[in-house]
Amino acid sequence: MSELKRTKIEHILKNHSQLGIGKTLNIRGWVRTKRGNKNVVFIAVNDGSIIHSIQVVADLADFDEELMKLVTTGSCISVTGTLVESPGSGQAVEIHAKEIEVYGTADTETYPLQKKGHTLEFLREIAHLRPRTNTFGAVFRIRHHVAFAIHKYFNDRGFYYLHTPIITGSDAEGAGAMFHVTTLDLNNIPKTEEGHVNFGEDFFGKSTNLTVSGQLEGELGAMALSEIYTFGPTFRAENSNTPRHLAEFWMIEPEMAFYDITDNMDLAEDFVKYIIRYVLDHCFDDLEFLQKMYDNELIPRLNFVIENKFEKLAYTEAIEILTASGQKFEFPVSWGIDLQAEHERYLVEKHFKKPVILTDYPKDIKAFYMKQNDDGKTVRAMDVLFPRIGEIIGGSQREESYEKLHSRIAELGIPEKDMWWYLETRKFGTAPHSGFGLGFERMILFLTGMANIRDVIPFPRTPQNAEF
Ligand code: 4AD
Ligand code: MG
Repeated sequence: MSELKRTKIEHILKNHSQLGIGKTLNIRGWVRTKRGNKNVVFIAVNDGSIIHSIQVVADLADFDEELMKLVTTGSCISVTGTLVESPGSGQAVEIHAKEIEVYGTADTETYPLQKKGHTLEFLREIAHLRPRTNTFGAVFRIRHHVAFAIHKYFNDRGFYYLHTPIITGSDAEGAGAMFHVTTLDLNNIPKTEEGHVNFGEDFFGKSTNLTVSGQLEGELGAMALSEIYTFGPTFRAENSNTPRHLAEFWMIEPEMAFYDITDNMDLAEDFVKYIIRYVLDHCFDDLEFLQKMYDNELIPRLNFVIENKFEKLAYTEAIEILTASGQKFEFPVSWGIDLQAEHERYLVEKHFKKPVILTDYPKDIKAFYMKQNDDGKTVRAMDVLFPRIGEIIGGSQREESYEKLHSRIAELGIPEKDMWWYLETRKFGTAPHSGFGLGFERMILFLTGMANIRDVIPFPRTPQNAEF
């Protein structure tokens, strides 16, 4: 290993004037390309700290021929050399190599990323290597910055990060699409006298599953700390093979005491605009790359969303607009339907041409915990709908009345024995409160311009797919 401490390529490219031409530096990273002639080779090295690679120039006379043969696309090397101004276009500086060490070779016949221009579908099949492409480097760096921005946003506003359980005994959304968690021997399942699975013998002594949402536990936190948020993985076993669904995805769920639905909508709008602004301020190189490669409207679209107030209207008005649109939808529109992506995107992309927050949905298509409106038909729900994505946030004001919540639970046949602790928040010091859930990957989809949610999470979990 080089005696010299490694300098990250990002640091060199951004601070070469301060570092000084002529300085000796050590860089380490993976070879993207190597080209040259009999006398000199140019090696593009990338260490993931920034989208750009640094060019290493090596005079072949200075190096052992056998060593230089090992420097191929995909190999990992350490280079010590002098920082020099680059005569070529495309980069301000380059490294004139004095010493090269090969950490790991990559066989030119079998390394799958030998050539550029692989399809995203192919790259999904090599999820273990795709972080080494420019595209996935950009996406994963943006993902990191967004996660950081989310914690910063809430921390700066006095929200506490609450860790809610991943294994739960409850079904927050009532969607009925959960992954069981069990240590029972599946080849020899213990049964009760009535012939049901005897979960009494299971690890937790009851039936448990991976959480679909941290909200219910989040509410317990908000009823003590006032304003909390969760940020964790959630799991849904729904068999939907769409470009916007994952079986394992991350959700951010703020929950606030003393917020009504209007406060909730204002927070959601401010929050997503903050994230977009943060990414424009901190990830511009990566955004420019993604814009060039995948979506030439990307940066204008991000700016458009920050500059415009979101349109707010009730579900019933949205149904009227859709019905009057004359548009042919695959799923016909009538009051009471659950809106499909095609309906949401019509409202956002064709009708209003900006993000929309829909409120006051029919109670039958929304979860039991939403605050009931006086009309007896609708609940104080809110969905934030985005261009290209459709629903990016789902939330509501919560039903704070013990009686109303209790009777809704009974009406839906939700076992009270699973919900007693949740109901107790309404029994002891209940308060008006609200919250929402932002789908992290849907936000990253919007920010990166990628078209498929499988391409914005390092290791996507979808039906029939958990290889890596
Ligand atoms: O609308 P959802 O189901 O709401 C909840 O889970 C509430 N408990 C949130 C709350 O009020 N605290 O999910 C919230 C968001 C959706 O708007 C969507 O962005 C995302 O989570 N989402 C998914 N993202 C990827 N794959 C899936 N299968 C998703 N299901 C929901
Ligand atoms: Mg929803």
